Amino acid sequence: MKLDLDPAHASVPEPLLIEAMQLEDINAVTRIELLSFSTQWPHDAFANELRSNKLAHYFVGRVGSRIVAYGGIWVILEDSHVTTIAVDPDLRGRRYGERLLLHLLDKAIELGAAWMTLEVRESNVGAQQLYQKYGFTTVTTRKSYYSDNNESALVMWAGNLQGELYRARLDALRAKLR
Ligand SMILES: CC(C)(COP(=O)(O)OP(=O)(O)OC[C@H]1O[C@@H](n2cnc3c(N)ncnc32)[C@H](O)[C@@H]1OP(=O)(O)O)[C@@H](O)C(=O)NCCC(=O)NCCS
Repeated sequence: MKLDLDPAHASVPEPLLIEAMQLEDINAVTRIELLSFSTQWPHDAFANELRSNKLAHYFVGRVGSRIVAYGGIWVILEDSHVTTIAVDPDLRGRRYGERLLLHLLDKAIELGAAWMTLEVRESNVGAQQLYQKYGFTTVTTRKSYYSDNNESALVMWAGNLQGELYRARLDALRAKLR
């Protein structure tokens, strides 16, 4: 059977190329942000992060020439913090978010981080499942953290990122993504 007639092959997502975010990517990034979050970062936030924050590392994921995902971390010695992550709503469920999270983890580990934390809305079960898959657990709840609807945030952490067990976990998940 020809590959393009085989549904199993037809459904294989196109590869995601992950690169450092540049100032010229910000328009595409804010378009995805607008479609993904009920509140947006202030107008200059991405540019300020790219220009002035030495602790920040932002990435975009491209399919062909189109930016379809983005995410960022701060890395402060042994601690790292996911500041944002999103995938174009049209292209969710193709493991692009997972690939990007893996990239953020790889970068944090490369820079010496032993911990990674993030906040996620209580209602955002899909994102929580992604994080749990990568070893994040909820350590506390911040009540009424999100001002738009007073929703609480779960604070999740993954630890011992430099340890053998965590590296083995990442290797196994990476292998599945290939
Ligand atoms: C969260 C988000 C980045 C996930 O990206 P995605 O490309 O759609 O997700 P993936 O295809 O990579 O999914 C990978 C894993 O995430 C989890 N997941 C993702 N979407 C899910 C959903 N709707 N329901 C349940 N689990 C989900 C699953 O564990 C999945 O792995 P599995 O299929 O082996 O179980 C994306 O949904 C998004 O941009 N959401 C809006 C922005 C947002 O909420 N960002 C997070 C803020 S904390």
